[in-house]
Amino acid sequence: MKIELKNNKIFFENEGQKKEIHPFWFRERVNGESFIDEATQQRLFDPTKLEEDIKINSLNLSDQFIEITFNDGAYTKFAVQNILREFSNEDEIKKIKKVEWDSSFTNFKNFKFEDNFFNEKVMYDALIDFYKFGFVIFKDVPTKNNFITNFANSIGSIRRTNFGEFFNVKSKPNPSDLAYTSLALAPHTDNPYRNPVPCIQMLHCIENEVNGGLSTLVDGYTVTEKLKKDFQDYYNILTDVKVRFQFIDQSVILEDWAEMIQLNEKGEFKQVRFSPRLDFVPLMEKNELELFYSARKKISELYNSSQYRIEFKLNPGDLLMMDNHRLLHGRTSYDANQGNRFLQGCYIDYDSTEGKLKHLKRKFNL
Ligand SMILES: [Fe+2]
Repeated sequence: MKIELKNNKIFFENEGQKKEIHPFWFRERVNGESFIDEATQQRLFDPTKLEEDIKINSLNLSDQFIEITFNDGAYTKFAVQNILREFSNEDEIKKIKKVEWDSSFTNFKNFKFEDNFFNEKVMYDALIDFYKFGFVIFKDVPTKNNFITNFANSIGSIRRTNFGEFFNVKSKPNPSDLAYTSLALAPHTDNPYRNPVPCIQMLHCIENEVNGGLSTLVDGYTVTEKLKKDFQDYYNILTDVKVRFQFIDQSVILEDWAEMIQLNEKGEFKQVRFSPRLDFVPLMEKNELELFYSARKKISELYNSSQYRIEFKLNPGDLLMMDNHRLLHGRTSYDANQGNRFLQGCYIDYDSTEGKLKHLKRKFNL
């Protein structure tokens, strides 16, 4: 990638292709104190109010900088590196490659909570692990006074739902959800009926006196890749058909239509939704439905297979942060008579972790 000048025009060359860059693209990026507020890095002018026939009057290119004077009198100096970075279109987060894992993944790293560690390099390392594996576990997180809300709000902002700012998971009489019993919970994603689906779930163990009640995780990304490789028809129909996910209680009806495996605009993995108590398949041709039901059965078998599941006990102070768009979570059953098992949970969205990770990268010049 390089920048070239010719006849007061600026060209960008990449892999043998040379294209002119529109002068307006540079004009709306002018910097300097009369154009940009230094503290906020926000524009002091509105580019939609500029004349459209912006032209370049003069240009100077050195190794590191390009200087431009425009026909409306504006002058600016850009770092060539910054311009090239914009063209590379590389997002810090997308650059982190997802690592597929299955039941053999037992040696994952944990991160110890320290006061103010949210702005330390260790938090950067933890967030990188989160994006690689879809989850990370923090140890020794204070368990008093609903500390999970402080924790979540120190990374970003809590995403409140109709279950509240945070929720308590313990077995209780007359439960409104299976989560509040001592029964096993099969792998599922949370809140598939919400639009948008909460991105990240935190589960913080406050008390755990029982032998069972192990937390389980499955990598939906690994399972999706397996399905794509070995069961192409199933993969195709599950990435194509939109299912209605629904939650109903006394005060609200939440519904959303979405694929069980959602791909991004490039046809790559984006999100899985799986909650077989809440999904309603649309009425399709009988043969299509036949294929869909077989596909759903297969992916359910894979999600529930011990081949892909890891199990571990959360101890008091452990806080599990998991990607609800990528992983499925559940738990094994336990005997409520053995003692207390009490977890607190909440959600945050990707802008929290992305913003924090980018900030820490800038702070530590990584
Ligand atoms: Fe859940």
